[in-house]
Amino acid sequence: MILDGKNYAAELKDVLTRQCTALKETHGRPPSLHVLLIGSNPGSLVYVSMKQKRAYDFGMQSTVHRLDETISKESVLNLIDELNQNKEVDGILVQLPLPAHLDANEIIDAVCPEKDVDGLTSINLGRLLRGTPSLVSCTPLGCMHILKQWRSDISGLNAVIVGRSTLVGKPLSLLLTHANTTVTLCHSKTHDLEIHTKQADILIAACGSPKLIRKEHVKPGACVIDVGMNRLTDGSLSGDVDFDDVVHIADAITPVPFGVGPMTVAYLMSNTIQAMKNAYGNLD
Ligand code: GUN
Repeated sequence: MILDGKNYAAELKDVLTRQCTALKETHGRPPSLHVLLIGSNPGSLVYVSMKQKRAYDFGMQSTVHRLDETISKESVLNLIDELNQNKEVDGILVQLPLPAHLDANEIIDAVCPEKDVDGLTSINLGRLLRGTPSLVSCTPLGCMHILKQWRSDISGLNAVIVGRSTLVGKPLSLLLTHANTTVTLCHSKTHDLEIHTKQADILIAACGSPKLIRKEHVKPGACVIDVGMNRLTDGSLSGDVDFDDVVHIADAITPVPFGVGPMTVAYLMSNTIQAMKNAYGNLD
């Protein structure tokens, strides 16, 4: 079974676009997403322009604030403060990575938690840890959505995540824990990786190492989700899973591209809609 993220995202888009239309009719404006893009990291330029395009496709308003690589911390914090106060701004996203002179944690924590559509503020990560999440990072939400398409009930299964980032691995470990799976979080210092990954009914690769996961890492019949997006020296795109090697042994697998990527973007839109609904006291 190929887990077709592009198709799931298209289904989600239909639902979310209708919600945007309804919000526009009720409140006189669509949900509004503001992205801070600091500097000119080539990957970030591509991601941000794609997020903006998709926001328009969903019927949302989107503004990108392109800021100079050398901008001061104070200027960034002032802009975030302005956006926090602006009632017409629903979602704020600070594209990562940031230039070295800016402390990502400090900048992210300046975003009001109710507008933190990346789910990365200390408050939103704490709410997730406690089991009372509000806005949760988009890639982990996308992975959970894909898993539901594989099996509606994953309770009791072994889930193994490779990669412990704050953006993906750690929040996903919490979502999977709340879904009653038994979670193992592996990383670059893990000894004998395959001993752990071989136990996985659900294997998630989110470590940024092209084709790290091969068939010897995978239990026959597992569901394999590949969060990796690695640009190889020949210009081609590769996941963290060796798809051709693993596809025959897995029960289900996501492709790269068109697996997790489209779901991440769809959940960014979903979070922005949720933030607008929350702001208007419309919790459906
Ligand atoms: N850089 C790469 N992926 C992401 C993401 O999902 N959110 C943010 N803010 N920055 C990123």
